[in-house]
Amino acid sequence: MRAALLRCLLPACAVVGVLLAGAVRTHAAVGTPQPPVALHTVPDAVAGATTLSHTQSVYVSHCGGCHGIEGISGPTFVPTLRNSVGSFACTPEGRAYLVRVPGVSMSLIRDDQTLADVMNFVLITLGGSSTPPDFKPYTAAEVHAWRAHPLSGPDFMATRAHVLERALAACAHGPGAG
Ligand code: HEC
Repeated sequence: MRAALLRCLLPACAVVGVLLAGAVRTHAAVGTPQPPVALHTVPDAVAGATTLSHTQSVYVSHCGGCHGIEGISGPTFVPTLRNSVGSFACTPEGRAYLVRVPGVSMSLIRDDQTLADVMNFVLITLGGSSTPPDFKPYTAAEVHAWRAHPLSGPDFMATRAHVLERALAACAHGPGAG
């Protein structure tokens, strides 16, 4: 008995005692009725920010992992879409380029209308002021035609630079050709 008491004075025994006391308290809490927790009591800081349309959620799951849910990909080799991508739409060539990039043309979004909707979200919403004011939304038929010709090759970035250069020149000379 004395030996047991001595052991209990040891620090390790004190730790066991604290743990046991904690366990007892936890058990007591389980049986205590808790007031109901109200969900969504805090309004969105930006109205509608937590509500995604079907097209937006398709974008988030198929494109957002690389391009960012708001079209900002940060310091990566993935191009920023936000307030930038729309310049390509100033020429028919650039407009086609946007659908021919591998991430779009070979997307697992197989339905052409859904992909057209996503591209129109990318251009009109994410592209912002970079998109020419007379931009005509992509149609399913157009997407269907261009995705059959995916861009590829080792000189991809050079091709992109030339397409962009011609598009920016066209943007500067008035309303877009798209
Ligand atoms: C695996 C990552 C990845 C995914 C997923 C992806 N992309 Fe991309 N995207 C890229 C990269 C990288 C480029 C640059 C071109 C290249 O190297 O293919 C690009 C280029 C683009 C461009 C041309 C922009 C420019 O400035 O040249 C557009 C538009 C685009 N992507 C849209 C989309 C859309 C829409 C989706 C979803 C359907 C998508 N991407 C899915 C990585 C991705």
